[in-house]
Amino acid sequence: MNKTYSLRRLCNLHKHLLKQHRVIRYESNTSNDINSFVLYDKFICERRSQSKCSVLVQVSSENSCSDLYSYCSKYGLIKNIFHYKLAGSNHFVLTEFEDQSSVNSLLDQSTHIKDSNVIAVRSPFLWFRSNASKNNSKLSIVDNKFNFPFQANQTMIEPNIKDIGLDKLDSLSNQMLLLLKCTQLNDIGTRLRFLTAMQIENALKGIFPLSKVLPFGSSVNSFGKIGSDIDLVIMDSQTTENETSRLIYHGKCVSNSRTQTQRNIEILGDLLQLFLPGCSRVKRISQARVPIVKYSQDFIGVECDLAVSNETAVNMSELLYIFGNFDYRVRPLVFTVKMWAKEINLTNDTPGRWITNFSLTLLVLFYLQQEKIIPDIQTLVKQARNKDVRITNEGINCTFLRDASKLHNVVENKKTLDQLLLGFFEFFASFDFNTNAISLNFGKTINKPEYSALYIVNPLEVHFNVSKNISSEEVERFRIELRNAAWTIDSSLMNTNSFNLLDLFKGYDVNKKSQIVFDIQHQIKSSNRLVTVKDLFDDDSQTQEDTRLNKQLK
Ligand code: CTP
Ligand code: MG
Repeated sequence: MNKTYSLRRLCNLHKHLLKQHRVIRYESNTSNDINSFVLYDKFICERRSQSKCSVLVQVSSENSCSDLYSYCSKYGLIKNIFHYKLAGSNHFVLTEFEDQSSVNSLLDQSTHIKDSNVIAVRSPFLWFRSNASKNNSKLSIVDNKFNFPFQANQTMIEPNIKDIGLDKLDSLSNQMLLLLKCTQLNDIGTRLRFLTAMQIENALKGIFPLSKVLPFGSSVNSFGKIGSDIDLVIMDSQTTENETSRLIYHGKCVSNSRTQTQRNIEILGDLLQLFLPGCSRVKRISQARVPIVKYSQDFIGVECDLAVSNETAVNMSELLYIFGNFDYRVRPLVFTVKMWAKEINLTNDTPGRWITNFSLTLLVLFYLQQEKIIPDIQTLVKQARNKDVRITNEGINCTFLRDASKLHNVVENKKTLDQLLLGFFEFFASFDFNTNAISLNFGKTINKPEYSALYIVNPLEVHFNVSKNISSEEVERFRIELRNAAWTIDSSLMNTNSFNLLDLFKGYDVNKKSQIVFDIQHQIKSSNRLVTVKDLFDDDSQTQEDTRLNKQLK
């Protein structure tokens, strides 16, 4: 069987080579990202400054943009105006000024509707009252489009992947790049995420001026999608202790830090629920390992998770950001795998016994380490300089090289995206999840320290398993789908010279592979145990498939 399987691979490889000239030409246009690498701290700092210069204004329609523009211009020079619409015909305009002082004077001059039940809040979220006495607000965007910096064509609504034209491209690699382009978090999405963080930061400023609120997770780690949730954390704004100062603020003595964190979560939940505009459906999840407040920010149309302190997760976001920018193939591969998992219901928005996007991202990164496209974390740790040393308040060592462009290694692997996608599915379809734990720190597998169906060593807190939540049934389902995906791509490339990415998102096609399904069911019934990948590769249907392919080869 091995021999026939390799023949099949050889044939596919030949076909790949035949069409490579086309794919490579497209991909070589993509710059090597690491040369234009922007440091994470710089990226965060610039986006925070941008959010301090911005306000979000609800308007009655798109036509109010010009009116709003002329109204706001009296407070200062406007740099950018973005309009977007959410479901329910709510129109919003994100206005960015050149200078923060303009926002301050605009907010000073803004008013609130008097209501004895509500304590008025000053926040960057406002609405624009129509001006009954004035007629010139009828000017439309079209009339005025060259007169103000209006940014169009950015959506807050995730496109349907069936409508983005994947079927118009025959190269799988190009389809993966198109998927990334159409679904990745765009500029307005990033701006609004930072503004959401700034709303909380401003609200807390009076009593906690030493705190800042930062987005983390997929909003900033370069793997975020339009519509991804926002993860937020309240952090100490002083990154290091000022050892020269002899005057130190008195603080509260805390006997049990977990209880204190849970109390903080309760209070923050109340603050969001009672006072902050746009925050709705507030839930306090105090019992989780990392207690959070969950809420919806209705002006942005996304769900938010706010944690009180989770410095390690912020460092984790930076680590992922570095990997995401290391090579141009990393992000399209992660996006395709995440979309595949979402479309075939391997992942689910609600947390549970299934694999998460974070675990999937780490699996893709691990595979890319095997391909020597990205380095292992040990290499980044060894190359760290003095300024890269970070120890969190909880004592977790998060030291690693921040400026990955300083890593002078040449990536010799020139595999195309389609080869890597197939490689990913094949690698994990035959992976021994039973005995192996995945360590991105060493870039290789280690023995499982304890039983868990899937064990991915947490790269920063190495005693934790990132995928502890996943049940063995879900790992089995994952393996079957991995094998199915490899089969789908492999056989399609074998029969035709093209592949439609949408075919991958159909998941397990019972009719097409009824023989395999029958065999799996038969094996489950007769052995009363779960089917392993070895079973799947050794089954009769595989032999039949190989025989068919061999005939074609001859
Ligand atoms: N995180 C972690 N350890 C975990 C789970 C999460 O360190 N076991 C951190 C990671 O930095 C992760 C972030 O928390 O990126 C947010 O977690 P989550 O929202 O689950 O994942 P995202 O990467 O944001 O992906 P998604 O787009 O699905 O929200
Ligand atoms: Mg998230």
